[in-house]
Amino acid sequence: ISGEILVNEPMSLHTTWRIGGPADLMLIPEDIEDCWAAIKLAKKYGIPYLVMGNGSNLLVKDRGIRGLVIKMAAGEVKVDEEQNLIFAPAGTLLPVVARVAADHALSGLEFAVGIPASVGGAIVMNAGAHGKSIGEVVKEVNVLDSDGELLVLPGRDLDFRYRYSNILQKNFIVTKAVFLLARAPAVEIKKRMTEFLEKRRQLQPVGKPNAGSVFKNPAGTSAGRLIDAAGCKGLTVGDAQVSEKHANFILNLDSATAHDVLTLIEQVKNAVYKKFNVMLELEVQVVG
Ligand code: FAD
Ligand code: EPU
Repeated sequence: ISGEILVNEPMSLHTTWRIGGPADLMLIPEDIEDCWAAIKLAKKYGIPYLVMGNGSNLLVKDRGIRGLVIKMAAGEVKVDEEQNLIFAPAGTLLPVVARVAADHALSGLEFAVGIPASVGGAIVMNAGAHGKSIGEVVKEVNVLDSDGELLVLPGRDLDFRYRYSNILQKNFIVTKAVFLLARAPAVEIKKRMTEFLEKRRQLQPVGKPNAGSVFKNPAGTSAGRLIDAAGCKGLTVGDAQVSEKHANFILNLDSATAHDVLTLIEQVKNAVYKKFNVMLELEVQVVG
């Protein structure tokens, strides 16, 4: 197996929250054959495995992850200008893809410029912002199924919904995506991107490690608004704090543990339930 292999690797180095104990083994595969070879070995020896992208939606527990973590690597983004298509490997960062699209006067990924996701992670979560989500521009994805078959699936087969696609449930690994975009003047695309980044800077916290929205928005309302109205802004457990700027963000002030964050999550859920009779659902994925 080629690619980078790391032993006892602190997951805090691989999550945007900068939290998480060690993974027994981490592989950053060079290509999809390495990925499958590692999974085959893991299966043969009954070793659990987890695939990750940029770790921007992961809360890894303090005891870390037993088994193998496969971190998808970034790769070259290709453009077919005639057909308005962008081809991106799963580990590539979404803002990078959005900027390549803009440079080629292709519109549709502007919303993604501030989302620190990998392409694969964004598709799994159907990441979205500013009224758009990635499912709307996915033409097709290449996935590796749990038998090692490489499948090409059209976007419409992925059952994209709010922060959901059927990929996790099917245990697929996204290896590559093709986006179908629309022609537009590059200056307009870049202007929209700047506006979206500015809006984000105004509304969302910057500076302290976080994982974006901790909870999904309940139908018809916003988790941030409910948490705020329940009086949770500034609530702190250890070094984990509900952001004063946006209540659906939990900040790692310095050396927060996963335990701090999980305790704070419970406190926030209880406060919102008590006040509004609404049970918030996690958007972040707890692993380990
Ligand atoms: P990870 O966190 O690494 O993984 C998330 C899940 O996807 C895990 O279950 C993992 O196993 C699975 N996964 C990852 N890659 C693959 C793959 N290749 N194949 C199969 N499964 C895979 N989200 C939004 O939707 N909108 C926003 O505006 C937004 N803003 C954010 C702002 C900040 C500052 C931060 C830190 C996060 C924000 N997020 C936002 C959350 C996060 O970026 C998204 O959930 C994103 O889709 C996660 O992508 P990732 O590559 O980091 O995935
Ligand atoms: N609000 C408050 N108090 C707060 C925060 C928000 O009252 O502390 C209010 C705002 O005033 C606004 C409403 O709640 O009226 C909605 O807030 P915002 O516009 O910030 O959007 P959001 O619903 O909190 C969603 C996504 C974000 C995405 C933004 C921008 C979810 C869970 N969150 O946030 O995605 O960036 O819209 O489109 O859907 C993520 O998923 O990780 C994420 C950051």
